[in-house]
Amino acid sequence: MQINQNISSVRVSGTIKLAQRAKDMIAEGKNVIDLTEGQPHYNTPAHIIEAAYTGALEGKTRYTAVAGTPHLRKLIADHINKLNGTDYQLDNIVVGCGGKQLIFNALMVSLEQGDEVIIPAPYWVSYPEIVKIARGTPILVQCPEVAGFKITAQQLESTITNNTRWLILNSPGNPTGAVYVRSELEEIATILRKHQRVAILCDDIYEAIIYDDAEFNSLTKVAPDLIPRTLTVSGLSKSYAMTGWRIGYCAGESDFIGQMIKLQGQSTTNASSISQVGAVAALEGSQEFLKDWLHDYTKARDLVCSKLSQSPYLDIYKPEGAFYLFVGCRKLFGTGELSNDHDVCNYLLENAHVAVIPGSEFGSQGYFRLCFAKQEELLNEAIDNILQAISVLSH
Ligand SMILES: Cc1ncc(COP(=O)(O)O)c(C=O)c1O
Repeated sequence: MQINQNISSVRVSGTIKLAQRAKDMIAEGKNVIDLTEGQPHYNTPAHIIEAAYTGALEGKTRYTAVAGTPHLRKLIADHINKLNGTDYQLDNIVVGCGGKQLIFNALMVSLEQGDEVIIPAPYWVSYPEIVKIARGTPILVQCPEVAGFKITAQQLESTITNNTRWLILNSPGNPTGAVYVRSELEEIATILRKHQRVAILCDDIYEAIIYDDAEFNSLTKVAPDLIPRTLTVSGLSKSYAMTGWRIGYCAGESDFIGQMIKLQGQSTTNASSISQVGAVAALEGSQEFLKDWLHDYTKARDLVCSKLSQSPYLDIYKPEGAFYLFVGCRKLFGTGELSNDHDVCNYLLENAHVAVIPGSEFGSQGYFRLCFAKQEELLNEAIDNILQAISVLSH
């Protein structure tokens, strides 16, 4: 059957490909530790599961409003307003099947052929591909580690053209854990004020996963005048360990949200009604468990950072948020048969039996990403295996 050219040019997600290879090896009986997927190792808290179960028994098993139940949308509006200083009402909010679907819908309803979307690299693997599906042009801007893996105001200014329609900002960021501070957002806002046609998509999916003294800052809070052209995407996948429930949400100007709802109404309709009941319980219930999880993530982050920094071949950038470590591995190029980060990841999979993802999948060659939202024992074993495999190489 015919596949159109637009879809043919879209890449399979690098994270999904490597995670699959790791799963295949596990199925073959190999003891592989999979650090590829970006999800907490915890199960969803019991009170959320119980609420969804009870809701299903009570008949909350039917279609809901396309944009989500009013109850859930109200809770989401309250949450965003408190966090970001906005004043969103129900018609500013749409609930969808994960943050990914909402980013997809936002770009589908807005992009014309050839419109440019500025994506700071390293980036979350799906942004450029979704832009391409929506027939836009991803404009990738390299943000090196010396700049904290963040786009600077100068870079933004020199990248904006007459065709620029969106800037995507992801903080805390996947794959680096970089967090934009207030002054950086202020400088970015100054540039955006000069370019009225550029909208901003803030992907805040890791908003609750922040370490030490870092703080989550949203563009809307720093620059309220940009609220009318800012779209905020977030969801429950990462913060509440609900990746499989597929609940994400988006907040923005009501006309634009209305178009997103129209598109969703002709594709998936509402997000799962049962998942929405769970999401209500998540947002209404106690948030105490998040503190325990953050404590564990902090320990896990410190463990992997301190162990991996023992190797002279690896460069470590301590993340301020999210649960990923983006490890520089350029010094390994030229050892053994390794000449790029794909080689390094294949080598680690075959020899350390640890699955990690090459940085080039995120637009930055010379790194690999690992997810440290795992049990301490497993992380210890994985890192020991990596160090051992590297030490063999370098002798
Ligand atoms: C930066 C970023 N945005 C969005 C998503 C989408 O998450 P979901 O569709 O599960 O809400 C992810 C998931 O990995 C992500 O890392």
